Amino acid sequence: MIYFDNAATGGFKPDGVISAATAALSHSANPGRSGHKLSLACLERVYATRKLLCEFFNAYSYERVIFTKNCTEALNIAILGTVKPGDQVVTTVAEHNSVLRPLEYLKGRGVYVSYAPLNAEGEVDIETLINYVTDKTRAVIVTLASNVTGTMPNIKKVKAAIPENCLLICDGAQACGHFEVNMKEDGIDALAVAGHKGMLGIQGSGALLFSERMNPAPVLFGGTGSESYNLNMPDFYPDALESGTLSYPAIISLGEGALYLRQNMQQSREKVEKLTAYLCENLAKIKGVKLYSKPNPCGIVSFSLENMQSEIVASELSEKYGICVRDGLHCAPLMHKALQSEGLVRASVSAFNSQNECEIFIKAVKSCTQLYPN
Ligand code: ALA
Repeated sequence: MIYFDNAATGGFKPDGVISAATAALSHSANPGRSGHKLSLACLERVYATRKLLCEFFNAYSYERVIFTKNCTEALNIAILGTVKPGDQVVTTVAEHNSVLRPLEYLKGRGVYVSYAPLNAEGEVDIETLINYVTDKTRAVIVTLASNVTGTMPNIKKVKAAIPENCLLICDGAQACGHFEVNMKEDGIDALAVAGHKGMLGIQGSGALLFSERMNPAPVLFGGTGSESYNLNMPDFYPDALESGTLSYPAIISLGEGALYLRQNMQQSREKVEKLTAYLCENLAKIKGVKLYSKPNPCGIVSFSLENMQSEIVASELSEKYGICVRDGLHCAPLMHKALQSEGLVRASVSAFNSQNECEIFIKAVKSCTQLYPN
């Protein structure tokens, strides 16, 4: 099997991640709920992982590192916990449904939402985005890398152009682990992290990191193991945003992924960029292929085939060649609309893929174009 669906979920985990998650599965208690030794030891490791992630992303304080089950949950907390009726939000058509759906929900509750379009190069039109921002804009919400094409908006430019009081909230689903994200340097107020993609953790891991400039309200209510006499949520972080039992194995895996990346991210990035460039260059040479991606460090390469729906191509690649890719709209409907696409084939590579797999993939795509030649 050739696994080229790493943007949906990372297919390969370093040995350290697997052994740490397995050990956590076989020997864990509920962190922060009981006073016995094992519970306290788990709590200590959860806090060590908060500190590690805080350093990894040069974030603001480890208490403002919230563990979530995925990037979607992190974005929902950042958006629904912060934006109020009457606020204006500026975002982009490149966003995933985990941004679009909470915003559309808020639109029905008195929030004004503007979507910056793409420019002629298929990249987010930063000039238009900046023009949409006013003194009343509560937040600008931007993906650090599109999950459809891998395009990466210039975040520094966005930050430099928006008013001081406007929050910058970033979706790091496809960016984190692939290239350095430096919250303080880039002025990012909130970063939503997927644990199971570039960060190399297991499914069920994710995080929201945020600055002292924002105080998200809880969107989930329940037990925290703290202030249990209080019928309201604790008013301090992380407890205010972490109701219910945390996924200890997932958190441990995310921490191990970050430790691995601390040593290997540059090397992994170079490999992913090389494979992505190879795929782009060689797909572009195939008659009948239309390419939508440029070489990028996120490993994302999307394309369409003349006369063939993306679903058919993906199924052919899977059935005949054992190649896993993602088809369809990738939960990013406005991006596809802006690209005038009704669905694309997305290959997404990781540093654990090889040049040989890319060569087999190119040959397989070439064969697919022969199925319904013009
Ligand atoms: N959002 C993930 C993707 O782009 C699942 O495939």
